[in-house]
Amino acid sequence: SSEGSVEKEKTIALIKPDGVSGNYTDGIKRVILESGFSILRETIVQLDEDKAANFYAEHSSRTFFSSLIKYMTSGPVLVMVLEKENAIADWRGLIGPTDARKAKITHPHSVRAMCGLDSEKNCVHGSDSALSAQREMSFFFKGMSSGGGFDKDAGTHT
Ligand code: TYD
Ligand code: MG
Repeated sequence: SSEGSVEKEKTIALIKPDGVSGNYTDGIKRVILESGFSILRETIVQLDEDKAANFYAEHSSRTFFSSLIKYMTSGPVLVMVLEKENAIADWRGLIGPTDARKAKITHPHSVRAMCGLDSEKNCVHGSDSALSAQREMSFFFKGMSSGGGFDKDAGTHT
């Protein structure tokens, strides 16, 4: 970007099935916007087993994997592209630790403390690195990368 402008960053936020069905979407979006993020894109997706397994491929050998896939396919998820300076780390910070039970104690104002249940049903996802953010963006939004050439229209992507 040009000299003197703030370097913005994009990340993927995902509201998991229990977050969507539990009507946490509006509350989570409010937190996102109040924290200075722009929501560039959003789409509601019903993941099938293949897609959920692909999304969480790095965890495929873990004991919790099949249960995780069952959870992630139990209903629609809301996927959003968030943008702001330091978006990746800041969104991870805002959602809190993986285990929502722990989040309620150590990060009581975090999103996972607000709407998560435990280490599986933790309500939201955030990309953990620039590489993950890029992978997850192209996973949900065809042709989209964190690089240039992307128009900033918000709205539902189909
Ligand atoms: P992980 O990448 O460790 O957490 P995070 O979502 O904070 O990056 O794990 C990915 C997902 O796997 C996590 O959000 C929920 C699920 N999971 C379980 O179901 N049980 C577990 O013990 C762990 C560590 C994760
Ligand atoms: Mg992770």
